[in-house]
Amino acid sequence: MQPALSRISLSFLTGKNGIMITRDDAISMLGTYVTRENLFNHCLSTAAIMKNTAEYLNQDAEKWEIIGILHDIDYELIDGDMARHGTEGYRILLEEGVDEDIAEIVKRHNDFIYGNSDTPADRALQAADNISGLIIAAALMKGGRITDVTAKTIRKKFKEKSFAAGCRREQVALIEPLIELPVYFEIAIGALVDIRERLGLS
Ligand SMILES: [Fe+2]
Repeated sequence: MQPALSRISLSFLTGKNGIMITRDDAISMLGTYVTRENLFNHCLSTAAIMKNTAEYLNQDAEKWEIIGILHDIDYELIDGDMARHGTEGYRILLEEGVDEDIAEIVKRHNDFIYGNSDTPADRALQAADNISGLIIAAALMKGGRITDVTAKTIRKKFKEKSFAAGCRREQVALIEPLIELPVYFEIAIGALVDIRERLGLS
C-alpha cells in the first residue's frame, strides 16, 4: 500500500483519464504539431485570453490556458479538411496522455461538426478563438501598438463586419451569459497586452 502522501500527490497530477500537463508541456507539444508561426501565435493568443477569462470567472486558469494552447493542435495535420478538425486533435491529445476533459473540449470546439456546447470553458474557447484575431488586426491598424487598442476600438470594430471578417461575431457573443461584451473586450485586450512581445506587438 502506498503512503498516504503519495496518493494525495498523485491525485493532483492526474485528471479523469490522463495527465494534467503544465503550460510548458503544452507549448512544447504544440510545437511538435504546428510549425507555422501565425498559427502558433494564434494558439498562444487564444490561451492568454482563456487564462484571463478564467481568472475573472474564478475558474481553473491553468487548465483553460492549456485548452487554448492545444485547441488547434491538429490544424496543420488536417490540411484544410475541416470535417476532421477537432476530431484529430482529440485523438492526438489522448495519444499524448492529455486529460480527456481537455481533449473533449478541443474536439467539440469545431462547432460546425459538434454544435455549440454551453459549459463556461466551451463558451470561453469559442469567444477567445474568434476575438483574438480581431484585436490583433486592430493593433496592426495602430502600427502594431496593442497598448493603443481600447475596448471602445474593439466595440466599434466588432460592429464593422467587414473588419477582420474571419472573426465570427456570433461565436464571441457566446460569452455573454457569463460576461458582458464590453468587459470581455477589456479582459481579452489585457491578455494580449500581457504577451505582446511574443506576438511582435508593442
Ligand atoms: Fe483557433
